[in-house]
Amino acid sequence: MLNHTAPVAKTIPILKSQKGKEKIVCLTAYSAQFAKLLNPHVDLILVGDSVGMVLYGMPSTLGVSLDMMIAHGRAVAQHAQQACVIVDMPFGSYQESPEIAYRNAARIMRETGCNGVKLEGGEFLAETVSFLTDRGIPIMGHVGLLPQSVNNVGGFRVRGKTPVEAAQILKDAKSIEQAGAFSIVIEAVYEPVAKEITAGVSIPTIGIGASSSCDGQILVTEDILGLTSDYVPRFVKRYGSVDNTISDIVETYAKEVRTEQFPESSHCYIKS
Ligand code: KIV
Repeated sequence: MLNHTAPVAKTIPILKSQKGKEKIVCLTAYSAQFAKLLNPHVDLILVGDSVGMVLYGMPSTLGVSLDMMIAHGRAVAQHAQQACVIVDMPFGSYQESPEIAYRNAARIMRETGCNGVKLEGGEFLAETVSFLTDRGIPIMGHVGLLPQSVNNVGGFRVRGKTPVEAAQILKDAKSIEQAGAFSIVIEAVYEPVAKEITAGVSIPTIGIGASSSCDGQILVTEDILGLTSDYVPRFVKRYGSVDNTISDIVETYAKEVRTEQFPESSHCYIKS
């Protein structure tokens, strides 16, 4: 049975009221254990479709399904008591029409118990954002680098360096704000553009590779832990090397099993 009535200390109105006053701290999580660990420290947990790359080793986020997002979303939302939990809508679940987007977003909300959903895109999605928000679904927008559109731009690169690109990103952010989104993620955007968006919209901007001028920051948790060993983007700060800790622990366990140091009698069920 889903718990839809758990107290959420960080409601969406509270997050909105933090704009310009208190930085908004966000991280990603995909499991119950990480949700419990992050919950006391962050304002918002995003169940990102980055789950496909981080947990499943996919080359991009395009292979992530709605069922995957619901399974991970439920695990997180049911174990984060205070943080606001937002679940990413995966590729193909909202682009076709506002009606299909509504059906899939409602399914995510109903089956996970999350507080809202995130979708990628600007001006072209404004009608969908407004259709969803009018019907009670809180929306977090996402502009700048859009990982689900990676094939259109031919890779992950910083956005907004040319005046044309900068103007489009600004327009995207404004149309998502006007359509009723409660917040916008700005990904891999040239600093002056992120600053202009943050000053020009009334809702909080959450930066990832978009400078400290944003109202809050988000990173992938595994990246800050040092658990993702492949390519690490410039905007990531690794706060630790959990990969080394895991490797040391597993090496010790393997050695103890091979030398019969583990299990000890305290780990066994011995007839007394
Ligand atoms: O999928 C994700 O984790 C994201 C964030 C990194 C913004 O979209």
